Amino acid sequence: MASFKLTINNQPHTVDVEPTMPLLWAIRDVVGLTGTKFGCGIAQCGACTVHLDGNPIRSCSYPVSAAAGHKITTIEGISKNADHPVQKAWVEHQVPQCGYCQSGQIMSAVALLKQTPKPTDADIDTAMQGNICRCGTYNRVRAAIHTASGEMANLPKSTPKVGKR
Ligand code: FES
Ligand code: FES
Repeated sequence: MASFKLTINNQPHTVDVEPTMPLLWAIRDVVGLTGTKFGCGIAQCGACTVHLDGNPIRSCSYPVSAAAGHKITTIEGISKNADHPVQKAWVEHQVPQCGYCQSGQIMSAVALLKQTPKPTDADIDTAMQGNICRCGTYNRVRAAIHTASGEMANLPKSTPKVGKR
């Protein structure tokens, strides 16, 4: 056992676990954030996708020791009221069916739109190919990403904060 400091959704957590424990275990079973799902456990389905420093990773196959000191974001951390443009587009297009894969799908979509604000269908297919959906929601996922892309393009640009002198 060892002690690791994790920053999850901007909150500090100290976890006392084996260094090889999958990050997913620490997120769900130690910290108690259960929005991220376990599917295959071998980095093949994408259900466990979270962001590490803004990049999507498969948390089922990422040791907690390697995540310490990095910024981890889970589905609970992308918006305060489930109102991220991607989440709103998911509702609009009724993407989730059984729902099991969906937090991973959303995390991959959010990462894609950060990298590529106006993705083509091919961009979407490439970025989302690691997220498997047994309910076959792929067409809805693609449509929702286009909607979210348009929505995000219309958001006012945040103005830089002016520091106190
Ligand atoms: S549970 Fe991690 S990729 Fe399937
Ligand atoms: S919505 Fe059921 S697995 Fe994707």
